[in-house]
Amino acid sequence: MTYREAYFKYLKLEDKYLNKTAIKSILLDDGKFADFSNLIRHFDDEVKDESKIEEFSNRVKTGEPLQYVLGYAYFVNSNYVVSPDVLIPRQETEELAVGTLKMIIKMFGRDPNIKIVDIGTGSGILGIYLKEYFPNSEVICTDISEKCIKISQINAKNHNVEIDYRVGNMLEPIIEEKGISVIVSNPPYIGDEKTVDSQTLKYEPHLALFAKPKTKYYEEIFKAIDQNLLADRFLMAFEIGEDMEEELTHLIENNYMGIMYKFEKDLYGKTRFLYIVKDETISYEA
Ligand SMILES: C[S@@+](CC[C@H](N)C(=O)[O-])C[C@H]1O[C@@H](n2cnc3c(N)ncnc32)[C@H](O)[C@@H]1O
Repeated sequence: MTYREAYFKYLKLEDKYLNKTAIKSILLDDGKFADFSNLIRHFDDEVKDESKIEEFSNRVKTGEPLQYVLGYAYFVNSNYVVSPDVLIPRQETEELAVGTLKMIIKMFGRDPNIKIVDIGTGSGILGIYLKEYFPNSEVICTDISEKCIKISQINAKNHNVEIDYRVGNMLEPIIEEKGISVIVSNPPYIGDEKTVDSQTLKYEPHLALFAKPKTKYYEEIFKAIDQNLLADRFLMAFEIGEDMEEELTHLIENNYMGIMYKFEKDLYGKTRFLYIVKDETISYEA
């Protein structure tokens, strides 16, 4: 069977899950093609492993997320190993990664020697992405799940970066630290199961999704401000749920008077990011 035959065989099914993107990804994976134009160039070549293509297509048809079927996901133009133990990286988190990168450059320069912590690292995407950009910085990644840490370690190795990994609950693994300049986190923040689509609910780890109340983990991390863990100038960067701005504003205003913070919208216009900054030398509007 050629790639062309395979492509049209599966496209004809008009399956909800096995859509064009999924079919292309499965065929790219089979030929180890870098991109779609490469696949097109080899469209009339024989596929390498027809039975594996069939197996992957059948699994995707049942609703299993494509990334778990393939065993990897893309995050800011790079591949990361994923398993059902870790959340599949999301587009919003790519925006958080890039937003945090820009803030770090603004506050600490292009090649800073600072301490960065990624709390609830999952597959490791945020910590690894930042370590690749800032190789002279120390990056600590934490998660309560040892299984997540194991996947993240594989990703760090594949990306050729040295990360300090720690297992534990929120701030606990870093409680002895001093001089942390950056905390980045995409913690669990979903309060209501009903708001989650059925595919995510069925396949992705609930430990990565749910928090009760939904602000619980932000409150935990905000405590770092009181605990002498942070450097004099610091940045905290969070992904948040689209309905959380008001509650988080109250939390910050009631507990940390005078601290600078700003909410940012994602590409869909939803408020999805919170940046907290202590730095007398910059202003957000500058
Ligand atoms: C929303 S996922 C984010 C994963 C990854 N950072 C990303 O953006 O794709 C939240 C992560 O927090 C971890 N987590 C859940 N409860 C935690 C806790 N109490 N302490 C530390 N990590 C926790 C989960 O295991 C999960 O990996």
